Amino acid sequence: MHGYGTRRSDSGGDRSMARLSTAAWPFLAAVAAALLCSVDAVIVEGLQVGFYNQTCPSAEEAVRDVVTSEIGLDRTIAAGIIRIFFHDCFVTGCDASILLDETPSGDVPEKESSANGFTLHGLRTLDVAKSTVESMCPRTVSCADILAFAARDAAVAAGIPFYEVAAGRMDGLRSNMDDLPGNMPTPSHQVPRMSELFVKRGLSQEDLVVLSGAHSIGGAHCFMFSNRIYGFSQGADIDPALEPAFAEKLRKVCPPRKDGDDPEQSPKVSFDGRTSEKLDNVYYSELLASRGLMTSDDALIKDPETKTTVDLFAGDNAVWQEKFAAAMQKLGAVDVLVGEGKGQIRKQCRLVNKPSKQSKPTSTRQSMPALRPKRKKPRLGLGNFIPGFHGFF
Ligand code: HEM
Ligand SMILES: *[C@@H]1O[C@H](CO)[C@@H](O)[C@H](O)[C@H]1NC(C)=O
Repeated sequence: MHGYGTRRSDSGGDRSMARLSTAAWPFLAAVAAALLCSVDAVIVEGLQVGFYNQTCPSAEEAVRDVVTSEIGLDRTIAAGIIRIFFHDCFVTGCDASILLDETPSGDVPEKESSANGFTLHGLRTLDVAKSTVESMCPRTVSCADILAFAARDAAVAAGIPFYEVAAGRMDGLRSNMDDLPGNMPTPSHQVPRMSELFVKRGLSQEDLVVLSGAHSIGGAHCFMFSNRIYGFSQGADIDPALEPAFAEKLRKVCPPRKDGDDPEQSPKVSFDGRTSEKLDNVYYSELLASRGLMTSDDALIKDPETKTTVDLFAGDNAVWQEKFAAAMQKLGAVDVLVGEGKGQIRKQCRLVNKPSKQSKPTSTRQSMPALRPKRKKPRLGLGNFIPGFHGFF
């Protein structure tokens, strides 16, 4: 159904506009201008279900086998992989830029941002999946597609009904942790800001509520929400939006922060204390019971618009699960690289391929220094985590 190309679904709109009467033009032009200013990523059409049918027919099965067996050994990996996929797609599109350990330009990669760093979980599983697929079909299946397949397999392992993942993404060549500020939502955000960031990626406010349901599995380190349970405000030590018994429980698990705390030693608390390994709608009923872990979770019931959607999902698991699968498909099409000359298929997900001698016969001298330049120093260390968290965005 989809052609292999780069037609973008919501950037032009020329054809639909042509059908409308000319009277609507000034208004539409204003809307289009507003959209062009705020949307800087788009849902790309051109990915295909069964993209590897001919070139690597067992690719999806191989990824699934690796992911399910790793999750069988450690259930927490499912959440980790889904989060890696989200963080990849939200910064320069689903191009596996989050998997790079180093970059040709010397930019400090996304992985080292304090929004990622040690909090990324499941990277090893993706390495195993890639090397397994690589041994079957060398240089054929992109890391970006492997990540999209793996996120689906993780969701299915956690209880979401099977959904198809269209493929054909190429891997990107750049990754820069400076791209996170202003693109990644933070735990202190309220709905207007989070919606803005979703719309900027071609996703909707409903997608924000639907995908936040990923917080039905996995958890957050104490420092992500400790501002809510210690010294919340001048008038209240604990965020009054939290159920008091829940806040007390959190205080027992999370000691007050001290200078010099090692963030990596911070305890991790499940978002959904009732069914923490099942992707189900219990996340939403927990929100309604004032047991949302982070400010950004609780925000979904503070805003009247998103609250209506939360009510709906809390009452109907099947509806939410179906919407979750569809939103994951949409997320997987954000700003993807498709078609000739658009990125590469990495040999290893952690490194951009070295330019081959054949493809760059004359520029060896210029390209070699660019390949492994002196690394730029990270400007934001993990230390930025502790005093205030917000400081790092
Ligand atoms: C929209 C605002 C969002 C914010 C502010 C946010 C923030 C966070 C934070 C701070 C953590 C805790 C990380 C840690 O302490 O290790 C987390 C965990 C997680 N997030 Fe989100 N997130 C958001 C949306 C999403 C979306 C859209 C998805 C996926 C579709 C997602 C999937 C996850 C998962 C699965 C975990 C658990 C990871 C684990 O246990 O290893 N999040 N998120
Ligand atoms: C791959 O095969 C499946 C199952 O036969 C089919 O549904 C799909 O359209 C095929 N995709 C491509 C791109 O050939």
